[in-house]
Amino acid sequence: MKKDSFYMPARVLCQDDVVRKSAGELKKFGRKALIVTGKHSADRCGVYADLCAALEEAGTQYCRFSDVEPNPSVQTIMKARDYGLEEGVDFVIGAGGGSPMDAAKAIALMIRHADKGADYLYTAGADGSTLPVVCIPTTCGTGSEVTGVSVLSNDKLQTKKSIPFKIFPQLSLIDGKYLQYADRRTLCNTGFDALAHLFESYINSSATQMSRLIAEDGMRIWKNNLPVLLGERELDAESAESLMKAAMLGGMAIAHTGTSLPHGLSYALTYHLNVPHGQAVCFFMAGYLEAADPDDCARALELSGFESVEQFGEIYKKCCHLPDVPRDVLEKTLDACTADLAADPAKCAKAPFTVDRELLGRIAYRSLTV
Ligand SMILES: [Fe+2]
Repeated sequence: MKKDSFYMPARVLCQDDVVRKSAGELKKFGRKALIVTGKHSADRCGVYADLCAALEEAGTQYCRFSDVEPNPSVQTIMKARDYGLEEGVDFVIGAGGGSPMDAAKAIALMIRHADKGADYLYTAGADGSTLPVVCIPTTCGTGSEVTGVSVLSNDKLQTKKSIPFKIFPQLSLIDGKYLQYADRRTLCNTGFDALAHLFESYINSSATQMSRLIAEDGMRIWKNNLPVLLGERELDAESAESLMKAAMLGGMAIAHTGTSLPHGLSYALTYHLNVPHGQAVCFFMAGYLEAADPDDCARALELSGFESVEQFGEIYKKCCHLPDVPRDVLEKTLDACTADLAADPAKCAKAPFTVDRELLGRIAYRSLTV
């Protein structure tokens, strides 16, 4: 029998009004919570009010750190860690898109290791124990609510980089109602991130029968919602719930396999040109699909509703718009993307085909012609 295993230790609850109904669950994590959010979206979509109501019902104290920027920096994590220590919190709740959830994981690590400096975040092999983490997604991309991944912007390394610890939330609460407050740009940027997770997990050297089953189901669900991303159909409660499920399945799939070349290439594009994550990742997807086994490529495209790589490229461009930058700036950045990934053999090994510098360059530039 071919070796197979699956590990995804987050307890996931999906339900209407799940946050307000989870006072009893939240109470178990301690006396005081640190709620980690971005600046505005947690208020706009109602998740912060729901959390306050649930924590008050539970008799759990809370405080809030709302300074998490998109692509959170190491400095932000350290600032939030100091605040959490001052407040004496017992657990950390990340509510929002990928940034607050990824930040919550790193903050929970650094509060536990209160005597350590920022370098600890990137110390491979160090003790990865953390305060308990709860995640509540409000967008439909990251899947961070079911992965151990935390990606931070690292100015020292001049790029975004995952920290080398697997920090799974102990509890994730999923409710499609929060997504209904997202604008179409956010829906597209995060929806294409979810699709990238599904594609990169499906076409991955670590893929197994179980991870593929999850990725395939996620692609089918994603396909049903493509008209919403294209603006041809309104986002209703059913689509919102279903887009969040596709994102969650994408997260479960990459929790098992990891992501592959498009994610590895994307970080410099986001760091240098501020391109939103999902948009940056899918910029490299046409080239990645073309480099894959033709049967795998055809199956992934078909399951997610595309007739060809070209059609994928057209729809991606309709949904996601790259910033208008001079061609030489874009080329310089794409060269930096390629150089970053060429220096990351572990990420290159996730591709189920031979990767060399020439192929990486071809993938990096393919979206300009597709
Ligand atoms: Fe991603």
